[in-house]
Amino acid sequence: MDQLIQQIEEYKKEIAGATASSAEELENFRTRFLGTKGIIKALMAEMKNIPADQKKEFGQIMNGLKVSTEEKFETLKSAIGNTTNGKEHTKDITLPGDTIATGARHPVTLMRNRIVSIFQRLGFAVAEGPEIEDDFHNFTALNISENHPARDMQDTFYLSQNPDWLLRTHTSNIQIREMEKGNLPIRIICPGRVYRNETVSSRSHCFFHQVEGLYIDENVSFADLKQTLYFFVQEMFGKDVKVRFRPSYFPFTEPSAEMDISCQLCGGSGCSVCKRTGWLEILGCGMVHPNVLENCGIDSTKYTGFAFGMGVERPALLKYGINDIRLLSENDVRFLQQFTSAT
Ligand code: PHE
Repeated sequence: MDQLIQQIEEYKKEIAGATASSAEELENFRTRFLGTKGIIKALMAEMKNIPADQKKEFGQIMNGLKVSTEEKFETLKSAIGNTTNGKEHTKDITLPGDTIATGARHPVTLMRNRIVSIFQRLGFAVAEGPEIEDDFHNFTALNISENHPARDMQDTFYLSQNPDWLLRTHTSNIQIREMEKGNLPIRIICPGRVYRNETVSSRSHCFFHQVEGLYIDENVSFADLKQTLYFFVQEMFGKDVKVRFRPSYFPFTEPSAEMDISCQLCGGSGCSVCKRTGWLEILGCGMVHPNVLENCGIDSTKYTGFAFGMGVERPALLKYGINDIRLLSENDVRFLQQFTSAT
């Protein structure tokens, strides 16, 4: 027993002073002390030769040795793990990584972002609103009273649960909601999805996207409207683009106009896209009707403003050479992945 204890003390010293600077040295340490043919196993085997009254004491000593050796092993192991010279790294970290396939932005998103960012540069802030709207914010507040024929111009989806609720037919509802807040002046751009009960074809869909804008302050004039929209189309289509305003009618603006740009495909000489006119209609606009301002609690003798609204799909079709609007909502990956590098 005494001999054994002396021997154990020596091993303890050896263990305490052990070092390992590589995985190999660590493994040597493990096999020497903790392996199946290692020192600790061999010492344990001595148990049978220990007199019965000393077995307990010997057992405790051996247990202590085993625990401290295992701890030492863990310490040596983690020290090696923290350095790079261990042989644990079996992977070649200089190999190029797996490529992560990137998605593509949707052409409608691309076009909406282009439109929005041009107006943001002019100081317009983005405002959003609900797609399920009540009659007041989609129609009545916009000077479209109950029996107004303009309601038929926009075939509306009503919700069966409540006849006062509908899917918004334009994003003008956002403008009403912003005006109601009463924080003047207002300079907002309102992108969003809108719904109209129209027959689906290659040129029109029952849902599409719009970007509308609103600017209200003292002394806002039609000249401001023209200059703002002229800046927009030049940024969007280039400096050579020509514009024309045609008188039009919207219940919520007076006077109202539609703005055309020279056809981007034929340069104005006439083609099938512009129906041989040389012009493409891109947006509706006008000075906000005083009734609309008053409906939202804004003093129409003090404030004036202009508004405009445009679709996102049509310019997207033109820009990306897409010949069917339905492709935009079918989510066919073969179609969508063509836009990975589009801007
Ligand atoms: N709200 C109109 C539409 O959806 C567009 C528009 C907005 C026209 C603002 C004039 C002024 O058709």
